[in-house]
Amino acid sequence: MKPLKPKAPPALIESERIFLRKHDIKQAKTMFDCVNRDRKRLEKFLPWVGRTKTVGDEADFIKTTHQWWKELKHFDFSIVRKSDNAYMGNIGIHSIKWERYSCEIGYWITSDFEGQGYMSEAVRALESEMFKLGFNRVQICCSTVNARSANVPRACGYKFEGTIRQDGVDLGKFRDTLVFGKLKKEWKALKSQRKLRIGARSA
Ligand SMILES: CC(C)(COP(=O)(O)OP(=O)(O)OC[C@H]1O[C@@H](n2cnc3c(N)ncnc32)[C@H](O)[C@@H]1OP(=O)(O)O)[C@@H](O)C(=O)NCCC(=O)NCCS
Repeated sequence: MKPLKPKAPPALIESERIFLRKHDIKQAKTMFDCVNRDRKRLEKFLPWVGRTKTVGDEADFIKTTHQWWKELKHFDFSIVRKSDNAYMGNIGIHSIKWERYSCEIGYWITSDFEGQGYMSEAVRALESEMFKLGFNRVQICCSTVNARSANVPRACGYKFEGTIRQDGVDLGKFRDTLVFGKLKKEWKALKSQRKLRIGARSA
C-alpha cells in the first residue's frame, strides 16, 4: 500500500448549523475572552489553558497553528455559528500519522453552546474531510472522568476501543484515557444509514 500523501483539509468547512474556519489572527481577543471566562471548566481537561494568560498568548497560539498548518502536522479550526457568526470553540486534527492513515480529533466548546449537539456536528464535518483526504482511521481520546467528552464520539458512532492507564496528566494528577475510533468503512456505512433516515423522514 502506498503511504498517504500529506495534504491539508479545506480552510473552511460547512455543515448544517456551523462553519469550521482556519483560525484568523483577528479572532485572538474573542478566543482569549472565551477561554478566560471558562477557565475553571476548561483547565480540568485541557493542559494549555493554564499557559493561556493573555491575548498575546492566544495570538501566539494562532500563529503556531498557522505554522503547523503549513507543515501539515496539525489542523486547527474555530467553530462558528452560521446564523450570527458567533465564535463557539475550537476543533482540530492532531497526532497525524500519514504513514498509518490515522489521525486524532481534539475539541472544546464554551459553556454558552454546550449540550446542543454543535460539537457532534463539528466532529462529523471534520472527520468527513479527513476520510475524504484518504485517512482510514480517526480517533478521539478523553479522560475517563470526562463523561461529556466521551458522549461526543458515542453520539457520532465511534467504537470504544479501550482504556490507556495513566496516559496523561490533568491538573497535576495522572489520568486514564478512553480511546474511541472510527474506520473509513464504518464512516461510509453510517453516512448511508443517515441518508436513508433523512430520506425516510422527508418522504
Ligand atoms: C467535551 C465537550 C466539547 C462536549 O461538548 P457538547 O456541547 O456537550 O457536545 P454535543 O452537544 O455535541 O454532545 C453531545 C451531546 O449533545 C446531544 N445532542 C446531539 N445532537 C443534539 C442536537 N441537535 N440538539 C441537542 N442536543 C444534541 C447528545 O445526545 C449529547 O448529549 P448528552 O451529553 O446529554 O448525552 C464540552 O463539554 C467541552 O468543551 N468541555 C470542556 C473541554 C473538554 O473537556 N474538551 C475535551 C477534552 S478531551
